[in-house]
Amino acid sequence: MHHVLILGAGTMGKVHAAAYAEMDDVQVVGIVDSDYEKAAKVASPLGAPVFASVDEALSTLDYLNIVDICLPTFMHKEMVFRFAEIGIDIICEKPIARTLEDARGIIDFCREKNVKLFVAHVVRFFPEYELAKKRIEEGAIGKPAVARTFRGGIFPTGWNDWYADFSYSGGLILDMIIHDFDYLRWMFGEVERVYAKSLLGRNLLRLDYALVTLRFKSGVIAHVEGSWAHEGFTTRYEIAGQKGIIDYDSAKEMPLVMKSKKAGKGAGGVAVPESPLKKTPYYLELEHFLLCIERDEEPKVTAEDAYKAVEIAIAALESIQSGKPVTLNSEKVHPRV
Ligand SMILES: NC(=O)c1ccc[n+]([C@@H]2O[C@H](COP(=O)([O-])OP(=O)(O)OC[C@H]3O[C@@H](n4cnc5c(N)ncnc54)[C@H](O)[C@@H]3O)[C@@H](O)[C@H]2O)c1
Repeated sequence: MHHVLILGAGTMGKVHAAAYAEMDDVQVVGIVDSDYEKAAKVASPLGAPVFASVDEALSTLDYLNIVDICLPTFMHKEMVFRFAEIGIDIICEKPIARTLEDARGIIDFCREKNVKLFVAHVVRFFPEYELAKKRIEEGAIGKPAVARTFRGGIFPTGWNDWYADFSYSGGLILDMIIHDFDYLRWMFGEVERVYAKSLLGRNLLRLDYALVTLRFKSGVIAHVEGSWAHEGFTTRYEIAGQKGIIDYDSAKEMPLVMKSKKAGKGAGGVAVPESPLKKTPYYLELEHFLLCIERDEEPKVTAEDAYKAVEIAIAALESIQSGKPVTLNSEKVHPRV
């Protein structure tokens, strides 16, 4: 039996709690959120206690073996350090951290403390994304050459509007299309060069858009498009190879599409990709992490993969600032963006 403490009862805390509720071998030992009422709503179907702070949880709980961090990105490092220090295995929402330095610090500290660290890059657990990888590996489209992805929806609204503060969230690139960076790297290997354009710095209130071009060492070229200027939420990919093309559009799965503008800031929440499956990708991801803990196995997405995804995102942000392509080199010290 795993004893999991969830930090954060916002969008992702709720999603993770719902997944654990379906698992026989998990007891959620508590939900920590500074907003007690919000946490109580998430905790009540689980019969779990609510804590207003990590201090309160740690001084009350007798035992936990996993902490699941669903707090805003800029808080990840502090929380990982807190729990790694006391030997608790860690599941952390993506992106692993707001900066590359923090990401490296987190990975090194967990290694030093000998705790497991899982970063929730969930796209690897979406069957439609997994299947494309499998079919490409089987040779279905021949040698892949070009990929195009899209991920977009409404501008997210989180606690204290932290998504709208670039220094907290890293904006659309670090927060959202990092999913596609991770997915594409999973398929095509290391990225060599990054070039990006976006609305960053234009001061268009609650609108963001980015187009990032990745050149992989394998020669594959990818266009990664992201938007926080749409309504609803959709994802797409199109991957072309020498023998064929494979594509997916989440909008085509919807029999009826109705998108209305929500009135006022705060009404929209955070869009999370949905799945009609009984075992959602979030369930599959968390179940996988728990199995890795039990069996002491490497996860499908490692902490180093999470680092690499941040590295690509930071390179895209650098490219937007400089107007020039950025060649990736892990040795290089990246400026703070
Ligand atoms: N994998 C995905 O599909 C996906 C989707 C959305 C968000 N995310 C990631 O999940 C993380 C959380 O995002 P979210 O949308 O759930 O955020 P959110 O704003 O919805 O929720 C954050 C919660 O943290 C609480 N909180 C703030 N400060 C606190 C503190 N000091 N102590 C305790 N609680 C505190 C807030 O009250 C709020 O309930 C982010 O890193 C985000 O990038 C991942």
